[in-house]
Amino acid sequence: MNTSSAPGKIILFGEHAVVYGQPALAVPVMQVHVDVDVSDSARSGVWIDAPNVDLQAELNKLPSDHPIASVINNLFFLSHLSPFPNLEIKITSTIPVASGLGSGAAVTVALTRALTTHLNCPMTDEEVNAFTYEIEKLHHGTPSGIDNTVVTYARPVYFVKGQPIETFNVGQPFTIVIGDTGISAPTRESVGDVRKLWESDKKYWENVFEEVGEISFAARQVIEEGWLKMLGTLMDENHTHLQKMTVSSPELDHLVEAARHAGALGAKLSGGGRGGNMIALVEPEMAETVSRALQEAGAKNTIITQVA
Ligand code: MEV
Repeated sequence: MNTSSAPGKIILFGEHAVVYGQPALAVPVMQVHVDVDVSDSARSGVWIDAPNVDLQAELNKLPSDHPIASVINNLFFLSHLSPFPNLEIKITSTIPVASGLGSGAAVTVALTRALTTHLNCPMTDEEVNAFTYEIEKLHHGTPSGIDNTVVTYARPVYFVKGQPIETFNVGQPFTIVIGDTGISAPTRESVGDVRKLWESDKKYWENVFEEVGEISFAARQVIEEGWLKMLGTLMDENHTHLQKMTVSSPELDHLVEAARHAGALGAKLSGGGRGGNMIALVEPEMAETVSRALQEAGAKNTIITQVA
């Protein structure tokens, strides 16, 4: 049997603007992950068991554009495998789907690593990243590539589309509370809607994206220096820009306000928006208080994570 695991992720700064060439910062979230086991099967076919998404099926019975089927079929195609081997593939996940935590990228990364290792043609991280980006494009329209990058390398990234991957140093570890609205919101839709805004007035929106890029650029420096209060202010500013892009929602705004009110240094939505998760920067001793305040304000789940 071959096993692989991939973490979730949060975008600290710069979502959406990153699609238009601006920098963004993302970090892995190790508390949530996708785990994939691949083993030979005594029965004929490729059998997929993914209880979190209520899927139990033979590969051929899935539509070819099904996210899991498209990963497996493309890997078989790339490996020149014919006939397909008989396999059992088990996929379990603690990352909520369509919540901004990178579940799609994590499934592809973990599945790709487990399957290619099982088939004796393991991929390098660069190959896994490039392959996952192609799969993201099939399902998300025009992704920047930040999700697959942070999930593949499982380390903090300062990401600019089309540029070599850069990581960043953390001057002073900081604590983030993640709050889940419980509303699933496909990234494809919010990215598509921001594209429509951009098409309606490119000059205006490119200016907005540039302002977000300046926030991400400043945030990297602030993180490297360990100036936490300033980091919180930058998060608040980034959230205002995301509201302008229409990708926040009443539920996200409500959780962001609740976190600030409970003592967070700053808060913003994280990922595609419209639902999914928000993040709050907190002093470590305030993490439990902010987490409780988020739950009282309606968060379906909270995670406390350290960026170090
Ligand atoms: C999604 O995690 C981040 C977005 O910026 C989309 C992307 O970069 O592909 C909303």
